[in-house]
Amino acid sequence: MIKMSARGLFLLRNASSCSHSPFFVTTPIYYVNANPHIGHLYSSLIADTVYRWRCITNNVTSAGKFKFSTGTDEHGSKIQQAAAINNSTPVDYCLKVSSQYKDLAQRFSIDYTDFVRTTDENHERAVHKFWNILKRNGKIYSAKYSGWYCVSDETFLTESQLKERVEPDGRKTIISGESGHPVEWIEEVNYMFPLRSLQDDLKYWIRRNENSVRPAKFRKILLDMVEASPLPDISISRPSSRVHWGIQVPDDETQTVYVWLDALVNYLTAAGYAEGAAFSKVWPPSVQVIGKDILKFHGIYWPAFLIAADLEPPATLLCHSHWTVDGEKMSKSKNNVVCPFQRSKIYTNDGLRYFLLREGVAHSDGNYSDTKLIRILNSELADTLGNLLSRCCGSALNPRQTFPRIEEDALRKVAELDVTKKLIEDVRGLPDACMGHYTDFNFYKAVDRLIATLHQANVFFETLKPWALKKDPTKAAELDVVLHLTLETLRVCGILLQPIIPNIAACLLNKISVEKGKRCFGDVKTLSWEAGEFASRDLGREKEVLFRRILLEGERKTRRV
Ligand code: MSP
Repeated sequence: MIKMSARGLFLLRNASSCSHSPFFVTTPIYYVNANPHIGHLYSSLIADTVYRWRCITNNVTSAGKFKFSTGTDEHGSKIQQAAAINNSTPVDYCLKVSSQYKDLAQRFSIDYTDFVRTTDENHERAVHKFWNILKRNGKIYSAKYSGWYCVSDETFLTESQLKERVEPDGRKTIISGESGHPVEWIEEVNYMFPLRSLQDDLKYWIRRNENSVRPAKFRKILLDMVEASPLPDISISRPSSRVHWGIQVPDDETQTVYVWLDALVNYLTAAGYAEGAAFSKVWPPSVQVIGKDILKFHGIYWPAFLIAADLEPPATLLCHSHWTVDGEKMSKSKNNVVCPFQRSKIYTNDGLRYFLLREGVAHSDGNYSDTKLIRILNSELADTLGNLLSRCCGSALNPRQTFPRIEEDALRKVAELDVTKKLIEDVRGLPDACMGHYTDFNFYKAVDRLIATLHQANVFFETLKPWALKKDPTKAAELDVVLHLTLETLRVCGILLQPIIPNIAACLLNKISVEKGKRCFGDVKTLSWEAGEFASRDLGREKEVLFRRILLEGERKTRRV
């Protein structure tokens, strides 16, 4: 039986398991010591997909009701050093790299509502407020601290987390066993946080509901960390003489707030913690997206800080694995960092979004490969999705440029065929299947199901041979049924693909004249003919090419991409 502190019990007893209104999703905030790469983009894409899915299932079409925060992590020795290396002041340097993260979000349609920079003034107020509450609750004490500090990871490490590395010149360096970055021995007076006293609350929070950490693999890893041995108390400040680029501890100018405490508070800043009024309506976050490398900070420090400050921990931490390149970790020294800006020029923004969300699975690392990416985009976005729309919109087959009306008799006749039955059954099952997969954060499964349905629609189209029906005036009503069923399949798939490829989906839905207010989950629950919608409507004027095939090396000789 786990013993809970009174505070923890009070907070957690009333915690709801997964449904929150309003909804609040977050990305980690990105360090500004390096330019964005596809790993950073991936964290943001997952959060964006979660957010967009929640919006379309709740009929939320205008910003403001649900929250989605992201931002940049700008303090600490690591940033201090990066600015110096770049011959810049920390202020200028942070502004420059932070803007790149804003550009990244804009370029890839990351639909955030709040962007927090830890150098923002309202963030500093939130950190001070949070610190003062921890202090008031007796959760901060001062002590002489000595231990190993890793500047790259901005974390203190225990002896068991260290390794020795022999350098090429024979020197021995002590490094972090997990990240491989060097550590330094420090002895200083710091403020400390009594993590050990919150260990039972943490176990309770992780165990109380299986959605606390997803997927289950990472929940298990976290539980093992929390249950293995007593957690050491942690240092939550550094002397200002060593780390000056940070937020000063309230009423003590000799100390700077530890960069991870500072960074984690960004989520409170986004929720309006410093301002007060609306905060309680937003808190706690519904889903916090994190990479596996920062699980300890979000799964141990973060809920412990929150419980200590009388705040509820997040409903769900959604932890994802990493992207490797040719099986290796991305790093500047290996010169294998994949730049999203550069790749999007070749593959388009939605193309790269599609690949990362379609190929990435949360529980294991994914391997980035341009060859695989081109194969998938060509076969699925160009040939399966794009081509189907082009076929329905071609002027030979559809000279009136309409989403044609259908006659019930003709529909009955076509619906008797097995190929039609299979298509209708697939389309009918799609909304619930997608609901399950998106809700479980298994985006790749939702995409699989959608692509399988679009394949079936292509098979249906080819079997019914509309080009032959077109030649026979007595078959005009059947031709309309073929076009209508195919376009209706595209409508349903387009709506359900919005969280993955928002721009391509918007083009498709505009082309087939789906009103902006009719692009939510409720709109795919009933198919047109089931709702008695037999009327014809004009197609939009947009181009019908949704995704241009990417040319391979040999093909590029004649056409440069
Ligand atoms: N600043 C901290 C987070 C503070 S949140 C309060 C940080 N920043 S980071 O820029 O290093 O990483 C941000 C996110 O990018 C993390 O979720 C991390 O897992 C993710 N990725 C970094 N490299 C990655 C890959 N190679 N693949 C996938 N995601 C990766 O940590």
